[in-house]
Amino acid sequence: MSYRLANKVALITGAAQGIGKACAELFAKEGAFVFVTDINDDLGKRTAWEIGPHAQYLHLDVQYEDDWDAAIRQIIKEKQYLDILINNAGITGFQEGFGLQDPENASLDSWRRVHAVNSDGVFLGCQKAIQHMKQRKGSIVNISSRSGMVGIPGAAAYAASKAAVRNHTKSVALYCCEKGYSIRCNSIHPTAILTPMWEPMLGTGVEREARLAQIAKDIPMRKLGAPDDVAYAALFLASDESKYITGVELTVDGGILAGSSASPKREEE
Ligand SMILES: NC(=O)c1ccc[n+]([C@@H]2O[C@H](COP(=O)([O-])OP(=O)(O)OC[C@H]3O[C@@H](n4cnc5c(N)ncnc54)[C@H](O)[C@@H]3O)[C@@H](O)[C@H]2O)c1
Repeated sequence: MSYRLANKVALITGAAQGIGKACAELFAKEGAFVFVTDINDDLGKRTAWEIGPHAQYLHLDVQYEDDWDAAIRQIIKEKQYLDILINNAGITGFQEGFGLQDPENASLDSWRRVHAVNSDGVFLGCQKAIQHMKQRKGSIVNISSRSGMVGIPGAAAYAASKAAVRNHTKSVALYCCEKGYSIRCNSIHPTAILTPMWEPMLGTGVEREARLAQIAKDIPMRKLGAPDDVAYAALFLASDESKYITGVELTVDGGILAGSSASPKREEE
């Protein structure tokens, strides 16, 4: 049996739960050694422990350059190289209690804090990965969102930061080609993947079930996605199976972006 990521070393940000955790589990199953990184140390350690000997936890707050340097230094010390980076960590501003996120009422501070994680974090991750991967080869996968492709009136900073991720992915991809580095960089654009990120927007009990049903009704495939739906897409882009693919965006959204239901919603409706 051949493993799809045999002998690869992967760093996944925001991997304590949700999509990052699903990537970590799948990558380890496919033969990679996975550095599970997060700011939630207790949960991150538990995730790494659950995965077993092919995983190790490292603290990494993606907004801080020093954290990136320390994590990469540790990885190189232990494993000599890094083959795969999944820039997955992201926040909406809702769980964090940053207040209203629409263009009229969001505070400048909340706008900056969302960008610090979602956009600066991906910039830093790509930069550090390029510096280390250029000696050999590597694959960077940036987790953007459908929100990086369309406007989201109630989550403007999130949407703009994800658009930055979408665009920066292509700059990184082309830069590496120009330089002759064997580093590919691609983005994934999930929508409606049921993870803890959704919880503040769902409520509890009957209300939660009604909200989930409503969301599912608006998805062409009539169901929400699971974290491993994104992990399988990331696995393909991380592996050598996608060796001629760089700068692409892969949507994982149950068909939402295949069409358009873009009739503007009005206050009075
Ligand atoms: N779930 C969805 O429907 C969906 C849709 C589109 C895009 N995404 C994107 O997928 C990625 C993962 O989302 P999820 O749904 O699994 O979210 P989640 O909230 O369940 O998990 C996010 C993880 O990131 C960690 N994190 C938060 N801030 C961090 C920081 N500064 N540094 C490092 N780690 C940090 C959290 O501790 C958490 O473990 C995010 O980038 C998100 O924007 C998710």
